[in-house]
Amino acid sequence: MIDFPDALRLLHPAIAVSVVFPIIGIVVRMAWQTRQRRLEVAQQGKSKIPPVVGSEHVKIGRWLTGSVVGLALLGLAHPIFKKLIKAGALNNDPSRVGLIALLFLATIATLVLLFMARERLWRAVFATLTGMGLVILGFQTDAQGNPLVFRRDNEWFVSHFYYGLAAALLMIFSLAIVQEIYQDRTNRWRTVHIMLNSLATLLFIGQGITGVRDLLEIPLSWQEPYIFSCDYVNKKCPEPAKQSQLLEPASQSQIPEPLLAPAMRGDRT
Ligand code: HEM
Ligand code: HEM
Repeated sequence: MIDFPDALRLLHPAIAVSVVFPIIGIVVRMAWQTRQRRLEVAQQGKSKIPPVVGSEHVKIGRWLTGSVVGLALLGLAHPIFKKLIKAGALNNDPSRVGLIALLFLATIATLVLLFMARERLWRAVFATLTGMGLVILGFQTDAQGNPLVFRRDNEWFVSHFYYGLAAALLMIFSLAIVQEIYQDRTNRWRTVHIMLNSLATLLFIGQGITGVRDLLEIPLSWQEPYIFSCDYVNKKCPEPAKQSQLLEPASQSQIPEPLLAPAMRGDRT
């Protein structure tokens, strides 16, 4: 049976696969139909696609924004709180833990307000605040200045963190401009929406790929001392223990000295 800390880590990918990705499928399918219908009506004056696809796309699109931002927050919350608790911040620096928890709540609150806002100014304000909340949380560091969230800065172009943040920001923007898309007779906002969300679709595919890669890379909690003693740059791990050693109970001294700088090793815990 999987240990509790590992089950906690699986929560985010499990929700992504079973809840968020099916919603992405529905939204993209209806986006395609909305466009087809609009073009067919413009060219032929009629279409077999029912007129509700547009409003259904938006209805489920609103769910998509909520679920992607929620998922990104969950993806951030796990490493942030895990590392803070491991470093003893609950006792040493409780105000910092409280402040970060407040920031999570504030980000959720501003997202809820964005869902409710009607006036353009308030939509802009709450969209900006929700986006800022995500970015500020994502770039939190520990007392030594090491990132709390593994960002893969040296390979940012295949980073689950940067793709996820960008996709969540694009969903927030989509929600904020719904009324502009409907009110704009020149279709400029519609075109902006299509371009940005085509990119978002690619980012979602990227999230599928980088997410499963990360699941493969992250060890189970009981394997951490061994896996983090590997040399990640040269892709080498300490020689496995001999058969006779394996039969004896493992002692702390058998765990090889880490070969990497602590900052690099600790990144993924
Ligand atoms: C992967 C995500 C998404 C994609 C690929 C996408 C793409 C599209 C496309 C292709 C259209 C049709 C444009 C046309 O008429 O030519 C559309 C319409 C629209 N989308 Fe999205 N969209 C996405 C998510 C969202 C979200 C999250 C929202 C808002 C919460 C949203 C709001 C709208 C609105 C208001 C329209 C106009 C609908 C209508 O004409 O009735 N979209 N979208
Ligand atoms: C809409 C899709 C997704 C978004 C917006 C998203 C967002 C995020 C964010 C912002 C993080 C924190 C940064 C990081 O540790 O890299 C994260 C972590 C993670 N994500 Fe995703 N993700 C998505 C889908 C997935 C999928 C499909 C999987 C795998 C099947 C996955 C697996 C993971 C894993 C393993 C972590 C590390 C969690 C941890 O350290 O506890 N994600 N995600």
